[in-house]
Amino acid sequence: MRGELTVEEYMAGLGVDMLHAGGMKRTEDLAEMCRVSRGKSVLDVGCGYGKTASFLVKKYGCEVFGLDISRRMIEGARKKVMEEHVRDIVHLLLGNAESMPFKDESFDVVISEGTTVFLEKEKALKEYVRVTKHGGYICLNELSWRKEPPRRAVERAFNDLQGVQPLKCEEWIKLLVDSGLEDVESRTYRYKSFSWDVIRSIGLHALVKVGVKHLIDSRIRRWISRQEAVFHNYSEYWGYGLYSGRKP
Ligand SMILES: C[S@@+](CC[C@H](N)C(=O)[O-])C[C@H]1O[C@@H](n2cnc3c(N)ncnc32)[C@H](O)[C@@H]1O
Repeated sequence: MRGELTVEEYMAGLGVDMLHAGGMKRTEDLAEMCRVSRGKSVLDVGCGYGKTASFLVKKYGCEVFGLDISRRMIEGARKKVMEEHVRDIVHLLLGNAESMPFKDESFDVVISEGTTVFLEKEKALKEYVRVTKHGGYICLNELSWRKEPPRRAVERAFNDLQGVQPLKCEEWIKLLVDSGLEDVESRTYRYKSFSWDVIRSIGLHALVKVGVKHLIDSRIRRWISRQEAVFHNYSEYWGYGLYSGRKP
């Protein structure tokens, strides 16, 4: 839509360096579900500004590859890993999740936060499985419908949330099972746009910037209110989940 902000413009405009449900608290839960630990190689698909990549390296001592289709995101992520002093351990690449520039069985762990929901899901999962080593884990953090949504909710989500196409919680689980993963686990949550965990994750500085931008920038204001309306109007349907499985 003309005049509509992209996810990158929104994140860059606000100085928000992560955009996934539940904030970094859920990233820790996700890392635990897929057994991230020292020495493991982890791929973050749709790495955005590299916050998760930097966090995982610092907290767990693993090596992280971040892939994103947006040049602007990858440039932002390069800045972030420099600031965080992890640029030698985080490797950032421009590329498409649905056709990744990696050899088969390259990673111990493949994660993706707030990204697969935008993609052709079977195709993306096939790629995630292909690049995961046997015995390795895949874990997603994705928006999910808690129950069958009305058609209007699905349309509003697609139109007002930059093309998201969430699945129901049980459909995400089925997607992982049908992709050949074993020991599939899920943790599901109600969605809240502003939980303390999210506020803590984006930080006070970014929060103040959001407030100021909201006042002075009409595009940002429109973007936020359209997003909020979709979540608010259909709040009983919105959830998100962590979904993990092991490649046999
Ligand atoms: C909502 S943002 C989430 C970013 C990051 N994972 C986070 O949690 O902050 C979605 C990200 O997916 C990326 N993306 C969208 N389609 C993609 C694709 N086909 N391949 C790789 N990345 C993609 C976008 O550029 C964006 O950085």
